[in-house]
Amino acid sequence: MWLYLVALLVLYLLCRWYRERQTVSNLPDKHVFITGCDSGFGHLLAKQLDGRGLRVLAACLTEQGAERLQQETSGRLQTVILDVTKSDSIAAAAAWVKGQVGDRGLWGLVNNAGIRDPAGPNEFLSKADFTRVLDVNLVGLIEVTLSLLPLVRRAQGRVVNVASAAGRMSLIGGGYCPSKYGVEAFSDSLRRELRDFRVKVSIIEPGGFRTPLIDVQRVQKGLEQVWSCASANIKEAYGQQYFDCHFEKFKKFLFTNSSKLHLVTDAMEHALMARHPRTRYSCGWDAKLFYLPVSYLPTSWTDYLLTCSMPKPAQGI
Ligand SMILES: NC(=O)c1ccc[n+]([C@@H]2O[C@H](COP(=O)([O-])OP(=O)(O)OC[C@H]3O[C@@H](n4cnc5c(N)ncnc54)[C@H](OP(=O)(O)O)[C@@H]3O)[C@@H](O)[C@H]2O)c1
Repeated sequence: MWLYLVALLVLYLLCRWYRERQTVSNLPDKHVFITGCDSGFGHLLAKQLDGRGLRVLAACLTEQGAERLQQETSGRLQTVILDVTKSDSIAAAAAWVKGQVGDRGLWGLVNNAGIRDPAGPNEFLSKADFTRVLDVNLVGLIEVTLSLLPLVRRAQGRVVNVASAAGRMSLIGGGYCPSKYGVEAFSDSLRRELRDFRVKVSIIEPGGFRTPLIDVQRVQKGLEQVWSCASANIKEAYGQQYFDCHFEKFKKFLFTNSSKLHLVTDAMEHALMARHPRTRYSCGWDAKLFYLPVSYLPTSWTDYLLTCSMPKPAQGI
């Protein structure tokens, strides 16, 4: 009995391995547009795909970012300046992409640009703090997708949306986690709608990786700013000790953050180049072994796990 089960499992894994290693053809003819290529995953992915011979259209937020990428890559890679929070910037980039790809259409769209801060306990933050993050991570991603979708449909290509393990389990207050839950929701409906156009949609869910997004000094500075902007009433209700534990908790998790950024860019590459891409890619051991399994636990257990080591707010009961 057990032997049959093991044999079935091995057969399943072999079939999956064989299916997943098949790649699409004519890579040098395929254009891939990536947002947020100044640093982190976007920067690395642009270089990686350029090295594989694809035609990379890399969108950077700054001129310096674009120049740096251009210096590190082949003459094939083209850059454009894009701020995903500005409709005119998106429209200009979409027109530029259309000119680059011509009748072939756009094979791949990688929505990678994102920010994390302002983050902190929710009551310390304002509507503008939430909007700032949602505008980049969710609304910007949606507008870029809608603007480029006709070109992706023409190529019967791929949409790759970067969510996060924080789109499965809310770890911090502020707009970051809601934006990533939103990316999951948007991608799910998009995948079903585009199936009959032969466009495939994949979601990337990284755990913690050492990129500028979660740089310790940047996070600390962000939290200091949030504390200094909060009203005296809020500070009194929660207390400095409660607030500070957010940074302490973040620092405790630092050792789990991986420097192997290629785990994420390899997943993105697979989503773009495999004939049968996955719907979701969990990247990093923390995502696979902690965030994902814990997200399936009963809510009261998850709440306990995430709060048991935290101090109570100053005026909490
Ligand atoms: N690092 C992690 O642990 C982790 C985990 C889960 C998910 N993610 C997701 O992975 C994606 C990439 O992040 P990363 O970790 O590689 O961090 P990153 O190095 O900070 O990359 C984010 C990129 O987005 C750009 N960007 C910021 N605001 C923008 C805007 N308004 N318009 C266009 N581009 C903008 C940034 O430009 P500047 O550099 O010029 O600011 C940067 O190039 C994000 O969506 C993030 O949420 C990261």
